[in-house]
Amino acid sequence: MNKNVLGISFAVFLLMTGCSTSTEPEEDSEQSEDVASDAEQTDNEEETEPVFEENDSEEAGSDTSDQSEDAAEQAPPKTNEKGELENPSALDALVNRDYLLPGDYKPEDLTVPDVPFSFEEEHPKRQIREPAADALETLFEEAEAEGMQLYAISGYRSYDRQEAIFAANAAEDGEEEANKYSAQAGESEHQSGLAMDVSSASNDFALTNDFGETPEGEWLKEHAQEYGFVIRYPDDKTDITGYQYEPWHLRYVGEGLAETLYEADDTLEEYYGVHE
Ligand code: DAL
Ligand code: ZN
Repeated sequence: MNKNVLGISFAVFLLMTGCSTSTEPEEDSEQSEDVASDAEQTDNEEETEPVFEENDSEEAGSDTSDQSEDAAEQAPPKTNEKGELENPSALDALVNRDYLLPGDYKPEDLTVPDVPFSFEEEHPKRQIREPAADALETLFEEAEAEGMQLYAISGYRSYDRQEAIFAANAAEDGEEEANKYSAQAGESEHQSGLAMDVSSASNDFALTNDFGETPEGEWLKEHAQEYGFVIRYPDDKTDITGYQYEPWHLRYVGEGLAETLYEADDTLEEYYGVHE
């Protein structure tokens, strides 16, 4: 635990100080630190907050089967024979292990939102798609107006970068464990440009379960849908999403769908009727 806290603190320190060292080439150093810091943050979260328990999954399963009966299910997105989405740029795209983004898919409207980041340097992970960027700016402004300062941590990731991050996580924890918190290449919403991980100073800018209990995390749970975002991996839906609780992972789906999902207490898997 202490070691993990130190690890997070060190990763945060690196982020805050620009993530550069004088002994390594800048590009290599940036790449390895990014992978290490993503891996470390999620790894710590996994080790310190064992939310991905069997009991948790069973409870979630029984809770959600009733709710999904109430929600109107939509036809799931069309995929090709490889399981890749035919319309990967749809704002309501379902992206998970069964509904993949093509390896060469890169959104055309990526932009850097005008919000505070937890790090100083330029990086592709600052980006998110235009409609999501506009909505994120409004969300951050409204949170701030209510005394909550959010920080963006990680948005767009290319297929190749996701592949490197998953490989680092699998090397650290083994593939089975890594699969609980880290998407494989083609399976991550971060490649869609519609996801942004956020945190707060009150949680030391870390991506940990504790963020969900901070005022900022609580505010997001109540208000994200008003701006078109959902908390994509809720703590009581881990068996449906296939990923452990991530109170920091915001996914933009547009205001109408976000409100629909929030009111029905549905994940995208439930909305499209593709959960087991
Ligand atoms: N942590 C989420 C599942 C991702 O890697 O996209
Ligand atoms: Zn994320």
